[in-house]
Amino acid sequence: MNLVRRIKQYLKAIRACVSEEDYKFLLRVLSKKELSYFNRFPDFEKRHALDVCYYIIDKYGIEDEDLIKAALFHDIGKTEAKITPNKKAIAVILEKIPFIANFLRGYFFFLEVYYNHPKYSAKICREMGLSERVVYLVEHHHDFETLDEDVKKLQEADKKS
Ligand SMILES: [Fe+2]
Ligand SMILES: [Fe+2]
Repeated sequence: MNLVRRIKQYLKAIRACVSEEDYKFLLRVLSKKELSYFNRFPDFEKRHALDVCYYIIDKYGIEDEDLIKAALFHDIGKTEAKITPNKKAIAVILEKIPFIANFLRGYFFFLEVYYNHPKYSAKICREMGLSERVVYLVEHHHDFETLDEDVKKLQEADKKS
């Protein structure tokens, strides 16, 4: 059930941490500049991004650099506003009542960023100098009409993490 998954996600978020092993992995796959962008994430988003990335590597045995970077940065747009686990919970609940969500996003920047984060993520990936393929994957990670196999893998991993 979606609600149970969301509650589990919330509990995981408030306890999230990043290990030394994770940082070793990041040092292997990211440049210095990319790592400095990754460090903009709060811990719970770092944990989520890493889990999405590990899921793809474990399930598909992929070492595709673009997909790995898309996994690590798909939600980087959320760093444009300080979105804490509590604010995220508010955004998720409001999403169920679209007319209120649409009204409030004009007043609360974190809602605007949360609902539009794939676009913000794409903008930041471009600014970071990542490939247009990464930009595309990131921009479409909530597009459920997609036929792109890599976007689908990213969505599957995102849902499981
Ligand atoms: Fe997302
Ligand atoms: Fe995500």
